[in-house]
Amino acid sequence: MKVKPSEYKKRNMTIWNEVAPRYHKRWASSNQGPFQSTKKLVELVNVKKGNKILDVACGTGVVTKKLGEKVGKIGYVIGADTSVTAIKIAKKWNDKSSNLLFVNADAENFSFKEKFDIITCQYALFFFPNAVKALKNMRKYLDESGTLGISVHGHKDRVPFFGNILDAVTQFIPDYIPPGTPSLDRYGTKKSLRDEVKKVGFSKISVKDFVFKYSPGNFDDYWGDYLRYVAKPIKEKLNLLERSQRKELKEMVKENTKQYTKRNGIIEFPWEVLILTAKY
Ligand SMILES: C[S@@+](CC[C@H](N)C(=O)[O-])C[C@H]1O[C@@H](n2cnc3c(N)ncnc32)[C@H](O)[C@@H]1O
Repeated sequence: MKVKPSEYKKRNMTIWNEVAPRYHKRWASSNQGPFQSTKKLVELVNVKKGNKILDVACGTGVVTKKLGEKVGKIGYVIGADTSVTAIKIAKKWNDKSSNLLFVNADAENFSFKEKFDIITCQYALFFFPNAVKALKNMRKYLDESGTLGISVHGHKDRVPFFGNILDAVTQFIPDYIPPGTPSLDRYGTKKSLRDEVKKVGFSKISVKDFVFKYSPGNFDDYWGDYLRYVAKPIKEKLNLLERSQRKELKEMVKENTKQYTKRNGIIEFPWEVLILTAKY
């Protein structure tokens, strides 16, 4: 049975409420691996003092904070996200920044009184069941001289951190990702990302390709951390595997990881990130 967009969204909100604290600690606040993109995105949207910025699907606020450092006291940044937990964390670690505001809002349905000079959205476009609706909404609230900045992960074959596990797990659990779930790497090529943004009417679209390095440690660290950090509904599916299947799955992931493993056992993954900028 296919998942309805509204159900998917609800499930996603539950997942993000559960994983936000781990996500913030392990990923977002680390500036490691793919999160080197935060700095790049902020550079590419060319922030000026006094700018009004909206950071869509801001999560725990890492991009929002960096943008806030650039707009000065006369500018401000609004971070918007559907996860109540993520917004709570964002507010907590940014409570001294008077030019940041965090709100709960859905990318497909938000409305504000003002228009923004810059709108950013890092690692979230692929979560929106109706990304076109979200992009239209972003354009509606972007000033006519404004800039859009979007970061996404590359296709899973160029992000082996995800691909290695996904390729193996789906052989054991075909509905690991429920049918009808929007594919998380559907904007993982320059063309697919550009085309979606073009559809909505944005101009001067440019997509830059970055390959960052990420080391999750050795194989046991990589696999152990995956099992430790994965969201509950996914973990429940993994727990249904027989012991022998689990063992086989682990071996398969290990095999997939071999080509990225150095002699000392440490894995070093390449991680492709695409950053798009566009004008109204
Ligand atoms: C991978 S995190 C990225 C967070 C942040 N932009 C960053 O770079 O750390 C994805 C975020 O998208 C949010 N999200 C998913 N669907 C959303 C929607 N429809 N509207 C707003 N936020 C959404 C999740 O709650 C989560 O915080």
